[in-house]
Amino acid sequence: MSALLVPCKAGPLTFEQNLKLNIPAIDQQHEQLFRLAIGINETLQSGATEDAVRMNALELEAYVQEHLVYEEKLLSSNHYPQQKSHRLAHARFVATSHKIQDELARCSGPACIAKAPQLFDLLTTWLCDHIMNVDRLAVDFMVPRANAPTPRNARFQISGRALIEFQPGIGITGRLENVGHSGLFLHIPPPLPEWVKPNAAAKIRLLPLDQTVGRTCTVVRIDPRQGIALSLPDGLSVDHIFKLVKHTSHSSR
Ligand SMILES: [Fe+2]
Repeated sequence: MSALLVPCKAGPLTFEQNLKLNIPAIDQQHEQLFRLAIGINETLQSGATEDAVRMNALELEAYVQEHLVYEEKLLSSNHYPQQKSHRLAHARFVATSHKIQDELARCSGPACIAKAPQLFDLLTTWLCDHIMNVDRLAVDFMVPRANAPTPRNARFQISGRALIEFQPGIGITGRLENVGHSGLFLHIPPPLPEWVKPNAAAKIRLLPLDQTVGRTCTVVRIDPRQGIALSLPDGLSVDHIFKLVKHTSHSSR
């Protein structure tokens, strides 16, 4: 991956030198969040369609949710004394982000595309500030006690992700946890949206290399606390998944 330059409020900062916290799983998630936000900006600059903007915004929102849940578990498992105020900072950000997401879901035409930069600005500005002032405090407390939850897919050495779209613009992302010959399991942190139903048909895209191809799949099982099992879509072999996963994987620990 190329070096990441983040447009923070005070000016562009290098992720590696200025924003890394030295907890690999958290750094990896922060970096991915910045890359998703920057991806939205690049999509806009290259003449985005409404659908592309919504798809990027949806992916960003789902990943934000997954990251914050992970980080809050880490704070809790390390008995961080300031976790209440830290969670409150997350909640305030989520509320603002939801407002923009709602507007994006309801807008149409050029007005819709004009909304998207707000999402990019909000995420990059908030995350820079939050990492440097709030997360860093938590890390200073936790590093001597580092007790990061191990991803359940660690034994497979994979950390691929997939976007499952149930209707155009309505979807969720999850982490590939298990891939077999008849299906795959996606870890999705609770709460699962109520529109995720058993036997629902959806389109699956492996991220980020497979975004242009949406393959039909079906929800075969729902575990409200862990995620969803999906039938293996036609045209998506185990070998193909592992090839994509290999390209998209990074060390989770
Ligand atoms: Fe945080």
